[in-house]
Amino acid sequence: MPTLFSYYTLKKHTIKNRIVFPPVVCFHYAGGDGFVVDRNVEHYRARAEGGPGIIITEATAFWEEGRLAPFQLGIWSDAHIPGLSRIAGTVKKNNVLSLLQIHHAGLISPESVTTTPGGPSADEKKPGSRALSVDEIRVIRDAFIAGALRAKRAGFDGIELHGAHGYLLSQFASTFFNKRDDEYGGNFSGRMKLATEIIRGIRAVCGDDFIIDYRLGANAPSLEDGIEIARYLETLGIDLLHVSHGGSLLNLPRTPRDFEYNWIVYSGTVIKTQVNTPVITVNEIKTPERASWLIENNKADFVALARPQMADPSWANHVKKNEPINLCLSCKPRCRWYEDSSLCPAVKKLMS
Ligand SMILES: Cc1cc2nc3c(=O)[nH]c(=O)nc-3n(C[C@H](O)[C@H](O)[C@H](O)COP(=O)(O)O)c2cc1C
Repeated sequence: MPTLFSYYTLKKHTIKNRIVFPPVVCFHYAGGDGFVVDRNVEHYRARAEGGPGIIITEATAFWEEGRLAPFQLGIWSDAHIPGLSRIAGTVKKNNVLSLLQIHHAGLISPESVTTTPGGPSADEKKPGSRALSVDEIRVIRDAFIAGALRAKRAGFDGIELHGAHGYLLSQFASTFFNKRDDEYGGNFSGRMKLATEIIRGIRAVCGDDFIIDYRLGANAPSLEDGIEIARYLETLGIDLLHVSHGGSLLNLPRTPRDFEYNWIVYSGTVIKTQVNTPVITVNEIKTPERASWLIENNKADFVALARPQMADPSWANHVKKNEPINLCLSCKPRCRWYEDSSLCPAVKKLMS
């Protein structure tokens, strides 16, 4: 029976345990130029020394107009590579698999980034939004692939494509946002054409050893769609599937009464039964006991814990040694890291 601290072999990598530090944007660290600063490196150094098996560096923009905020990490030019290589280096030095999430917000880009956000189709609820032309889609596709190649050149073991939370790839895949009737819409293969071309392109330029992980929005727009997309992505040869939400509260799957986790984790466990690709589950897993149960009962191959490892960078080591954990205080209405990690009461406690 696998446990939280069982090894996992993924291609040429031996991953030391099943704990993932998932992507977490560190707002107000990088400036408008998207360059890595010392604070970013320190943040990842602390988490890497803290013992997880995989670290997925936060949403990093390969296209300036596709950012989710004006101060997000960037990978839109070669000049970003040296800074990012400092993160890859500190993660790998600690024997942690290093992935980098590459991201385009599509229709969700805020006004502070662009007044004309583009996606598969205009969103009537978003003033100024517009449908990208086929030529623009191809330029973005190529920039996605170039971003992955830069990640490889920076020393990352692989990338995670952000296909969840209602961002660009999630918008293209979803009948809710994609109303096109050309080659990038119309039916399932049209809606998946952008992701297909990106995955094939990355594989061609980055090689077979490079890990391609896909963060999937399970309810985009329904879990049945999430399952269909997961099965299809497997045929494209992705290496990891990270099941999160699709950015909407519509069509939420019902979880069985005796299932003690939320619908996002439930979706991950359902998708795990439908594919052979290793699956990461995430969202409010919170405790070592709950994380272990998912692995020991073969409900997931990996468990991602974001806020617990934000509150306690050494979460994995503390669990392994049975030491006390610095607990996330579940701030309401939302996590203080969205403003600045220095406002997090758990981090403050750790520093005092
Ligand atoms: C401050 C903050 C920033 C986040 N940034 C990202 C991100 O860059 N990319 C992403 O896919 N998810 C992001 N997430 C979502 C987390 O990866 C994770 O899915 C979520 O926090 C639920 O996991 P948890 O309950 O263990 O915290 C972010 C979450 C928080 C709280």
